[in-house]
Amino acid sequence: MTASSWIAAWAGLVPAGAGVLDIAAGKGRHTRFFAERGHPITAVDRDVSGLATTDNIEVIAADLEDGSPWPLAGRTFGAVVVTNYLHRPLFPVLLDSVGPGGVLLYETFMIGNERFGKPSRPEFLLNDGELLELVRGRFSVIAYEARMISEPAMAMVQRIAARLL
Ligand SMILES: C[S@@+](CC[C@H](N)C(=O)[O-])C[C@H]1O[C@@H](n2cnc3c(N)ncnc32)[C@H](O)[C@@H]1O
Repeated sequence: MTASSWIAAWAGLVPAGAGVLDIAAGKGRHTRFFAERGHPITAVDRDVSGLATTDNIEVIAADLEDGSPWPLAGRTFGAVVVTNYLHRPLFPVLLDSVGPGGVLLYETFMIGNERFGKPSRPEFLLNDGELLELVRGRFSVIAYEARMISEPAMAMVQRIAARLL
């Protein structure tokens, strides 16, 4: 699976050589994308069967929703990348994981996506402007979109690229 066009478009904001945290990395499309660009990557997912550890890829198996301690306590990254995943209680620790000069690249489904299929439950859909609200006062918004997309499938998405102030 190829990288999200949003992530590819804004990957250049990540400081050269800086560590990247790929949250709910899945099969690792963004893990590989950033590894190929010379970034050390930490990929976290509860199912790491699709992720291979290499010299610059650290794979962490963790359930991010079961109340366990955050597996990366005290660590910060040049970028935190989240795509197609939403668990609101993680928002504070995701923001805290962006280090000085670092960026948050976040893209997931938003309200209105229920017209096209799943996810359709409110807990999996961002509200209008929610990513803007999330970073307000702490990050500088470089780019933001809330729109319908047709590739890789029809969906309503919200996405942001924001740098820590
Ligand atoms: C739709 S996939 C997105 C994968 C990847 N970010 C991408 O865009 O290709 C959602 C991912 O969230 C992971 N996930 C769901 N619930 C999780 C949890 N409680 N803890 C950790 N990972 C979880 C799933 O295993 C899956 O890999």
